[in-house]
Amino acid sequence: METILILDFGGQYNQLIARRVRECHVYCEVKPCTTPASQLRAMNPIGIIFTGGPNSVYLEDSPHVDPSIFTWGVPILGICYGCQLLAHNLGGQVTAAQDDSAREYGKTETFYDTASPLFRGLPEEGVSWMSHGDYMAKVPEGFTLTARSAACPNVAIADEKRGFYGVQFHPEVDHTQHGTDMIRNFLYEVCHARGDWTMGDYKNTAVTQIREKVGSGRVLLALSGGVDSSVAAALLAEAVGSQLTCVFVDHGLMRLNEGDEVEEAFSKWALNFVRVDAESRFLLKLAGVDEPEQKRRIIGEEFIRVFEEEARRIGTVDFLAQGTIYPDVIESGAGDAAVIKSHHNVGGLPDYVDFKEILEPLRMLFKDEVRQLGRELGLPEYLVSRQPFPGPGLAIRIVGDITKDKADMLRQADFIFREEMARSGEAQRLSQYFAVLTNTRSVGVMGDGRTYDYTLALRAVTTSDFMTADWARIPYDLLDKVSGRIVNEVQGINRIVYDITSKPPATIEWE
Ligand code: XMP
Repeated sequence: METILILDFGGQYNQLIARRVRECHVYCEVKPCTTPASQLRAMNPIGIIFTGGPNSVYLEDSPHVDPSIFTWGVPILGICYGCQLLAHNLGGQVTAAQDDSAREYGKTETFYDTASPLFRGLPEEGVSWMSHGDYMAKVPEGFTLTARSAACPNVAIADEKRGFYGVQFHPEVDHTQHGTDMIRNFLYEVCHARGDWTMGDYKNTAVTQIREKVGSGRVLLALSGGVDSSVAAALLAEAVGSQLTCVFVDHGLMRLNEGDEVEEAFSKWALNFVRVDAESRFLLKLAGVDEPEQKRRIIGEEFIRVFEEEARRIGTVDFLAQGTIYPDVIESGAGDAAVIKSHHNVGGLPDYVDFKEILEPLRMLFKDEVRQLGRELGLPEYLVSRQPFPGPGLAIRIVGDITKDKADMLRQADFIFREEMARSGEAQRLSQYFAVLTNTRSVGVMGDGRTYDYTLALRAVTTSDFMTADWARIPYDLLDKVSGRIVNEVQGINRIVYDITSKPPATIEWE
């Protein structure tokens, strides 16, 4: 398989480089810059990318590469620090920018030499994203300048003969216009990639690797029903089937039919699926509790207790599997010797579960790649394209104390809302949408009688990162339809309101 090696010098956008390369259908791996050269060479890369990084190449303790890498005859693209590293190693000179004009941060108008393979077919001018305080004072021999900005003449360098390219800016970030095209040019024009890497290939390789690693060992996975843990379960099931036990703790605060859907999705694999119906013990613990943080704590704690009990029943476990995905991997290049990361869905892993190693088969994938892999593995679309659902479930969508009646009421209303949103096509453009059962009751009239029932709130937001969010402008007619159906079909709710607050100042969830 043709591989691009991404050598990690600690830059903050390194994941994005990997992502861009994958988007161009070329397989890549990110390796720490401290990896021995012999190991890197054994990967037989068709091209190498040096990432950015926070250091200055001219300082003694800054990260470097084994210079033999420049003699392999493999094309190299250096980005920011990586570009400076190229220059520094090949006879150029990098210094700290003396005045503000040579230091560049943010969006910068840049002019490209489109005769250079890296910029071939692209506009001669565009915005690039810079973030550097050092600059190339002297360009190394054999290189030509291929891009400039108003402040800096040395924005990009190229030695076409050796296939060495360097850019001071970050082509991998969205702010750089045509940045992905530049990476594509490096892959196809310079490295002559075939571009035949697909998710199907990834699946096959991952399955083989898991089989080799696990051998005849036993694997335990806490399955939440969310996208990441579901895809991890499907991949492990494909690889080691009956050696895998998935523990799915149904805390009774799932959405309508969710538990059955998850169970059904996994019925096609010969794995051990343990569904723990823990509704009553969760509701008992939550009875009378109305403080949101306390609800979260109780659920997180109880989840672990249930999981521990099941793990104890299973006995010896060799591998504990987790659905960690690439954006969750905080320290790039940390390797496989992962520290046990607290499970963001359930608030922590049990301390005592005795296992030899952690398995994180999705740790190299981005969310949309995880979804793609899920489809490849044959998981149903409703599981794969799920909107995020919080670990504490409906508990933080029932304002005030929680009862089974309230949870049932909310489940039905939420189902109707989701059903109508999907039918109308609105769902596709939204990031998250759900119903919230408030603890306000109000007077209504139904038939000829008075009602005194609950008020339900509908919430729908658009967001790219869930840190901020805008309330969604969904059509009045659709709201009308949803409202009409809920008050008619769900007993106990007689009033519907639509939440028109963005985040901040509100949050997406109500609790
Ligand atoms: P907020 O309400 O903080 O939510 O604006 C941001 C996103 O995080 C989800 N969320 C959670 N996810 N466990 C989770 O796994 C939780 O305890 C939790 N609380 C909020 C929320 O649904 C939204 O997508």
